[in-house]
Amino acid sequence: MSERLRSVVERLDVRPDDRVLEIGCGHGVAATLVCEPLEGGHPIAVDSSAKMIQAAARRNAAHVEAGRAEFLVANLENLDLGDRRFDKIFAVRVGLFHREPERARGIVERWLAPGGAVFVFFDPPPGASQVIRHVPLRRVSIGEPRKREL
Ligand SMILES: C[S@@+](CC[C@H](N)C(=O)[O-])C[C@H]1O[C@@H](n2cnc3c(N)ncnc32)[C@H](O)[C@@H]1O
Repeated sequence: MSERLRSVVERLDVRPDDRVLEIGCGHGVAATLVCEPLEGGHPIAVDSSAKMIQAAARRNAAHVEAGRAEFLVANLENLDLGDRRFDKIFAVRVGLFHREPERARGIVERWLAPGGAVFVFFDPPPGASQVIRHVPLRRVSIGEPRKREL
């Protein structure tokens, strides 16, 4: 299991009923970790590569078969999620968020539930100084975490 992705998912602080959307899920490793704490929540993961989605769905077959997770082949730019809304939307190392961060965030913010948040993670640049070696991923969160009743 990737420690990098485990660290990412820990930072999401997934709650049992969270609705979670992952953009660019690759092999679906983070999606596996997101599914663990979910009870009523239902994660959706998308990737533009059919090969990646096949691998991710295979990896998470038990969750898919139980109707607890969905894996969709789609480009973020063309993704149609209808009126679905999410408490947490995240992307790890997805090019559009590097190249055109404002555009990427503009797209995903449409799908945020009230109080939801977007998390974007990047790797450190090559040759990064030792200072950030222990902080390998940077998070950008938009909006306040959903308020929950105690
Ligand atoms: C570098 S990989 C990262 C995979 C995974 N998030 C990880 O960190 O291991 C980027 C993934 O994002 C997908 N991707 C890139 N641009 C995308 C877009 N515009 N819409 C959907 N998926 C995209 C790629 O197909 C690839 O699987």
